[in-house]
Amino acid sequence: MAKDTLTVTDNRTGKTYELPIADGCIRSMDLRQIKTGGDDFGLMAYDPAFLNTANCKSAITFIDGDKGILEYRGYPIEQLAEKSTYLEVAYLTMNGELPTKSQLEDFVHKVTHHTFIHENVKSFMDGFRYDSHPMSILASTVAALSGFYPDAKHVKDRATRRQQMIRLIAKMPTIAAFSFRHSQGLPYVYPDNELSYCGNFLAMIRRMTESKYKVNPVLERALDILFILHADHEQNCSTTATRVVGSSEVDPYSAVAAGITALYGPLHGGANEAVLRMLREIGSVKAVPEFIKRVRGGEGAKLMGFGHRVYKSYDPRAKVIKRTADEVFEVTGKNPLLEIALELERIALADDYFVQRKLYPNVDFYSGLIYEAMGFPVDMFPVLFAIPRTVGWVSQWEEMITDPEQKISRPRQVFTGAKKRDYVTIDRRG
Ligand code: ACO
Repeated sequence: MAKDTLTVTDNRTGKTYELPIADGCIRSMDLRQIKTGGDDFGLMAYDPAFLNTANCKSAITFIDGDKGILEYRGYPIEQLAEKSTYLEVAYLTMNGELPTKSQLEDFVHKVTHHTFIHENVKSFMDGFRYDSHPMSILASTVAALSGFYPDAKHVKDRATRRQQMIRLIAKMPTIAAFSFRHSQGLPYVYPDNELSYCGNFLAMIRRMTESKYKVNPVLERALDILFILHADHEQNCSTTATRVVGSSEVDPYSAVAAGITALYGPLHGGANEAVLRMLREIGSVKAVPEFIKRVRGGEGAKLMGFGHRVYKSYDPRAKVIKRTADEVFEVTGKNPLLEIALELERIALADDYFVQRKLYPNVDFYSGLIYEAMGFPVDMFPVLFAIPRTVGWVSQWEEMITDPEQKISRPRQVFTGAKKRDYVTIDRRG
């Protein structure tokens, strides 16, 4: 009869072991019993970059990378992008169920009334040079919030945890907008509680002398959709960073700051910034075949915004974004780089190099074009990713903190350095 076990024979010793299989996994710790002798540490699994290692059980986001499926708490991303709002999705992500009307009102009220930041945070931000990358201002400022909310260290207390989660979701657009205003040498604009989450963010970015900023509803909705698409993406690099740092039971501001710095990298949230720089460098539709040739030739050029560790088909978020782009361009006028992007996609999707490696456009391929059309400089692109991903980070962080199976993250290593040797004084070194 079929059994949910794996039988392993260690050919070094001839011994056979039966390891349980649950949820399609064996437990790496079950390998430890496989030893060649008494002083053998036991077998480990070697998996640089976690290519085939599940680090947690999670009930938040489901991805099927081959089929191009993304679901938050079971709801398909396409339905959420069409019918929901970012704050409703935030509630869903944090709590596991869609809110009732009164639950949503209460949640929106809480988030709206935590958007202000302590005045000292502002002076802290003022210390940055005028040309500092807004992502570096964002990461440092979020880390600094740990000093403003000392209670946040009580990570085992649900009420305290929830308060910090709301604060982070609420303050992130304010800090992000202030980072932008600082980098532009513009005065900070305080939150307007009468506006929506995205409307308020756009107002803090754009408002100048007008007493009330009039938000364009198409752009407001487009940003809300982009925020929904970026809310969570299971165990990606920045979420893993947040979980790993948070596993030391540090406060969530410190853990989320780690997530933001991970997101800053060009292989992760910095990719949409890299896409725009790449499109500018290519310069014209005519130059696309030459660029693709360079990518194929392995001359160090990568087609930024293509490829994904998990998706081996079209990223479902990229499909939604392409539709949103059309709506935004109707208001803002077409981004001239769009033609280059479309040509890149057309050629790449028919090219053996990309087909064989299953490289398709990811979420970042088109998002930068929309952000640019909305008037954001490229430096702000990863910041625009960090704002909505905050709900993913805090939800995953809380899931980790409340998971009885989790402990402080501490991987093993395969040591490849020098064997023990005696110290040599400097005068005797060759
Ligand atoms: N352009 C050209 N070739 C690529 C690209 C690309 N964008 N992505 C992967 N490849 C090639 C690799 O060179 C490799 O080729 P090889 O087998 O001949 O060596 C093969 O495809 C497999 O790629 P890996 O690097 O092993 O894939 P991995 O899962 O490690 O990397 C990643 C995924 C980092 C996203 C990669 O595809 C990449 O660098 N893409 C460009 C950056 C990007 O768009 N990042 C955003 C990701 S989405 C997000 O974070 C929101």
